[in-house]
Amino acid sequence: MGEKMRLDRLVASQRADISRADVKKLCLKKKITVNGKLMARSDAKVDTDDEIYVDGARLVYKKHIYIMLNKPAGVVCSTKEGDSRTVLDLVPAELMRDGLFPAGRLDKDTEGFVLLTDDGELSHRMLSPKTHVPKTYFVRLEKPWEESYKEVMAEGMVIDGARAGDGEEKCLPAEFEGSDENDCECTLVLHEGKFHQVKRMFEKVGNKVVYLKRVAIGEMALDRDLALGECLEILHKDVEKLLALKTPDWQNLD
Ligand code: URA
Repeated sequence: MGEKMRLDRLVASQRADISRADVKKLCLKKKITVNGKLMARSDAKVDTDDEIYVDGARLVYKKHIYIMLNKPAGVVCSTKEGDSRTVLDLVPAELMRDGLFPAGRLDKDTEGFVLLTDDGELSHRMLSPKTHVPKTYFVRLEKPWEESYKEVMAEGMVIDGARAGDGEEKCLPAEFEGSDENDCECTLVLHEGKFHQVKRMFEKVGNKVVYLKRVAIGEMALDRDLALGECLEILHKDVEKLLALKTPDWQNLD
């Protein structure tokens, strides 16, 4: 048994393209069935586990939705319409819901894994500085990396303020790993999310980030088959991986 809910509220909560008023109209047009029975009234109480069809399409109730987006550069992590395209503009209609937001931000020029969800509680747990969920970044630098970065970053760096006049900021210990194949490439695992943090950390050691991509959140790696700008629904059984404190071996995933 699921949760009892009004039919119009249930359908509208799952489909951003259908309002509660639309549900009423669909009932009048005999377009909604619940457990095989035509529904005449949109205010009828139904169970979230019921077998619901709306205009021939099965509606499987999910309390929350979790989406992995491979964000391209040039798109902003915001829900507000502005001059730039937002991450919500990339969500296909079948995954779109009211209340969807990006759980955490990437800079406009950063690519990679953005979690989109309508679950405020999970987002809060994932972003809380107390939880320290690791976020893994692939970084390309202007100049070759140096062995010293590992120790400096593991100690918890003090970085310059994000804007002129801002005071210094102390970072939590972070894990730097230089690539064996390319001396300008590396990964960095952060356990917090200060503004422009990766860029500011490399700036502090005298280098410069020229390309940045988030490749994992918690124990969940960005799907390698997901093209830039594409979305993938995260299965319910995998959601807890977003909060895991381990980091995936994202380079050796098949
Ligand atoms: N650090 C940055 O500098 N930019 C991002 O987008 C994410 C982490």
